[in-house]
Amino acid sequence: MTTSVLFVCLGNICRSPLAEGVFLHQVQGRGLNDRFRADSAGTSAYHVGETPDPRSIEVAARHGIRLPSKARKVRAGDFEAFDVIVPMDTANRRDLLARCPDPLAEKVRLLREFDPDGPGDVPDPYYGGPGGFDTVFAMVDRSCARLLDALLDGSL
Ligand code: 4NP
Repeated sequence: MTTSVLFVCLGNICRSPLAEGVFLHQVQGRGLNDRFRADSAGTSAYHVGETPDPRSIEVAARHGIRLPSKARKVRAGDFEAFDVIVPMDTANRRDLLARCPDPLAEKVRLLREFDPDGPGDVPDPYYGGPGGFDTVFAMVDRSCARLLDALLDGSL
């Protein structure tokens, strides 16, 4: 059986494509390719069709990770289609829950719930300097590892 995870941020060009790439890299590293599927989406349509922000591509590349995704907006069908839906911050979670059918709301889990140094938001790095992307990478990397642990041990 495949478990599917959708990572969500505002623009789907900085944080969530990075989380998607990091999660899939960890899945591959643990030899679990056939067990997990991941995608990412934005709560806004500001950047639909765009490749990830060059600063996300760069920080990922430095860690040996490619980010092949193209930005898309969250769709109504995502709440059924994915097993777990993971917003990067509380504003994204609020926007998701406003659209999510009530019985599916428990699928929505903030990424940094799984951060051993969390909880909290993955801060929006879009208007900051490149250093912000290193901070975001570290948060996403720590959190995705624990998210994957939780999916594997059945606690999620
Ligand atoms: P993301 O970052 O939500 O991590 O993709 C942002 C990208 C674009 C904008 C805001 C945040 N924007 O306002 O265009």
